Amino acid sequence: MEIVSVKNLTKKFKDFTAVDGITFDVQEGEIFGLLGPNGAGKTTTIRMLITLIPPFSGGATVAGSDILKDRDRVRENIGIVFQDPALDRQLTGRENLDFHARMYNMPREKRLQKITEVLELADLTEKADELVENYSGGMQRRLEIARGLMHAPKVLFLDEPTLGLDVQTRRKIWDYIQKLNRDQGTTILITTHYMDEADYLCGRVGIMNRGKIVALDTPRNLKNLIGADVVTLEMENGDPGPFGKLDYVKKTVAHGNLVNLSVENGERKIPLLMEFAQSQGVKIKSVELHKPSLEDVFLQYTGTTIKEVNTDSEERSRIGMNIRRGR
Ligand SMILES: Nc1ncnc2c1ncn2[C@@H]1O[C@H](COP(=O)(O)OP(=O)(O)OP(=O)(O)O)[C@@H](O)[C@H]1O
Ligand SMILES: [Mg+2]
Repeated sequence: MEIVSVKNLTKKFKDFTAVDGITFDVQEGEIFGLLGPNGAGKTTTIRMLITLIPPFSGGATVAGSDILKDRDRVRENIGIVFQDPALDRQLTGRENLDFHARMYNMPREKRLQKITEVLELADLTEKADELVENYSGGMQRRLEIARGLMHAPKVLFLDEPTLGLDVQTRRKIWDYIQKLNRDQGTTILITTHYMDEADYLCGRVGIMNRGKIVALDTPRNLKNLIGADVVTLEMENGDPGPFGKLDYVKKTVAHGNLVNLSVENGERKIPLLMEFAQSQGVKIKSVELHKPSLEDVFLQYTGTTIKEVNTDSEERSRIGMNIRRGR
């Protein structure tokens, strides 16, 4: 059964379309991911679904309630972890949770019981009475997720939950997210621009770029679209065109001086490709071989990589052209 249902959801900021008619469903009990680079429209989508901003057109239901007509009901049924940290660093972990519970008018008994429960779930019981400013980045993130669980939400929205954390901490957060999905049965809608995160965590992933969902499926099916191994050639000169004519090359995607070739048994094709390059007078600077990743899927649909888009937007924000960025 679908617990989130999104139809033609659109958001404009003046004449800029940040979210451009997206349609998708999230099934009850699922971990669903929106994967895309900076500025793709992920946070804007979440903000509409959690009823913080109204859509320009289209609509959605969350846990059976309409995001426009039934905002209060939607809010009762959801938990939210924002992209930007929203903890009071001068309070302890327990105090942060208590403050949140009072905002939701939770009665005392329930409050104490829930705080104990979510602290345990987040593995923060021992740190509960320390100031949040003394928490590590990963602990702060776990506390925020714990707070999102205080009122036992049907759907938990996580906007880039591991942004900026180191690899080990990210792994721990992933385990924690999986645990609460499995044990509490919480449906999770997560946004990320980390391919590995979407791949590892999500049952299904919508790949988002420039306000649109360009592909949506299980990570496995998305990667199967690429089919074979991916050989990336860095070319010093020449045209990637002729490579596409080889019978063992299933697909080519060129970007800049790189060309990605989809081939079966890639390691065996590399010598053949080198010979072919030489016969064409193409100079190859480097060769790389990998199994298809969601980055390859993104590249195939958009002609660019998530990394490239992110670097570009960081560049823009450094020279002050961007209106607003995450962090
Ligand atoms: N309040 C606003 N006013 C004007 N433009 C906005 C506003 N909020 C977002 N945008 C623009 O909408 C686009 C989508 O932004 P959004 O924050 O949804 O992207 P995102 O996918 O969450 O990116 P990130 O990975 O950087 O968090 C961006 O170009 C952004 O600058
Ligand atoms: Mg965002």
